[in-house]
Order: sequence, then C-alpha cells, then structure tokens
Amino acid sequence: MTQSKIIIAIDGHSSCGKSTIAKAVAVRFGYVFIDSGAMYRAVTLFALRRNLIKDGVVDEQKLIKLLPEIKIEFRYNPEKQKSDTYLNGENVEDEIRQLPVSQNVSPVATIAEVRAEMVRQQQEMGKNKGIVMDGRDIGTVVFPEAELKLFVTASAEIRAQRRFDELTAKGEAVSYAEILQNVQERDRIDSTREASPLKKAADALVLDNSNMGRDEQLEWVVMLINERLK
Ligand code: DC
Repeated sequence: MTQSKIIIAIDGHSSCGKSTIAKAVAVRFGYVFIDSGAMYRAVTLFALRRNLIKDGVVDEQKLIKLLPEIKIEFRYNPEKQKSDTYLNGENVEDEIRQLPVSQNVSPVATIAEVRAEMVRQQQEMGKNKGIVMDGRDIGTVVFPEAELKLFVTASAEIRAQRRFDELTAKGEAVSYAEILQNVQERDRIDSTREASPLKKAADALVLDNSNMGRDEQLEWVVMLINERLK
C-alpha cells in the first residue's frame, strides 16, 4: 500500500544514540521529532518544584491529582534547529537535562497514571502521522501500529565509553567504572519496572550500533523508511 506519511517508533536503552538517529531522520523526511523522555523529565521537574519528591520518594497521590495542571509542549527553536520542551509555557529544555531531574525521573516514569497521561498526549501528537518518536515504550504501547519500529542498542561498555568520552571532552573529571555502573543500573530499572518495561516489540528491527557510525546508521534507517513509503 502506498503511504504518504508514516509513524517511526524508536525505542532502546539509554545513551545509545536513539535521539540522534530520530532527529536526523526527522530532518531528512520533514517529520516531527518527539523526545518522549523529555515529557517524563518535565513532569519530574514539576514534581520537584512542588516539593513532591523527597529523598527519591515521590508523593504519587499528590502528583496524580495535579496531572491536569501539567501542560507539556514542544516548540521549534530556529536558532538550534530543534524543538525545546515547555512546561506550562516556560522553556525548561536546559533544566530537564540537569542532574536533579536525571536523578529523579526513573521513579516518576514508573507511575502508571503518569504514563497513561503521557501516552494519551503522545498518541494525540501522532494522529496525523509524519512523526518520529523515541523512548522506551513507543513501539509497544504508544504506537503499536507504527509502520517502522526500531530497537536501538549497543553494549553497556560501549555506551559507557561514549558517555565517558563526551564528559571528558567537556573537561569533567569522571570515572569510567562509575559511568558503566550507572548505565547498567539504568538498564536494570528501565527493563524491570512494572509499568511498560523497556522491551523490544515483536516486530521491531534491532539496530545494534556498537560498531556503526552515525552516517551508516542513518542510511540504513532511510532505506527502511523508503521501503515503507513505496
Ligand atoms: O530518554 P531519557 O533518558 O531522556 O528518559 C528519561 C527517563 O524517562 C528514563 O528514566 C526512561 C523514561 N522514559 C520512559 O519511561 N518512557 C519513555 N517513552 C521515555 C522515557
């Protein structure tokens, strides 16, 4: 069947370059790119600001009650040529990438009611297709009917090495062993949580980029998309 626009779901482990691929694909096809992790991060920032997280424990009932007050949007920033995340009208793109949010987002992302609301918003964003969304449950829960599903991965050691190189290039003093441990811990939490654990959809194609460059990955994905657009 000829399709004019499709949905592309990109799931996989943390720090394996999902959003780099998703962004490049979106630019190539003029599609909308949505970083679903940014939405869980924005909810986490909201919870932190309302003092709903203490020592890593989330006041789930209060947060669930306040969900209708949380409005998340993506607005295109022409300077950066990418979208910024907005929480109730405020640009929070930088703040959601910082440590307090990174350290608290996992427990927030395990709350079933939070997930249900994010999934509802994500499905709304994809209703006209022409979208590339990256996350953990996009091919399994958000868009089970996506025309192309990718499951991106790379060995924990390689992901830790990439993160280590990135941080040392910025002049940060970090230990490879600690980063590796953090990568493995995040894999464990993402894969074993009760609500929508990270798992490959039966019909997803695996992209193991342990030994693949950016261009090589992009060309492979572009070929897969073109096949589906034929
Ligand atoms: O991709 P990221 O590191 O920005 O994701 C932040 C957190 O949100 C991480 O703990 C995984 C979680 N997440 C999720 O549970 N489901 C998604 N679709 C995207 C992210």
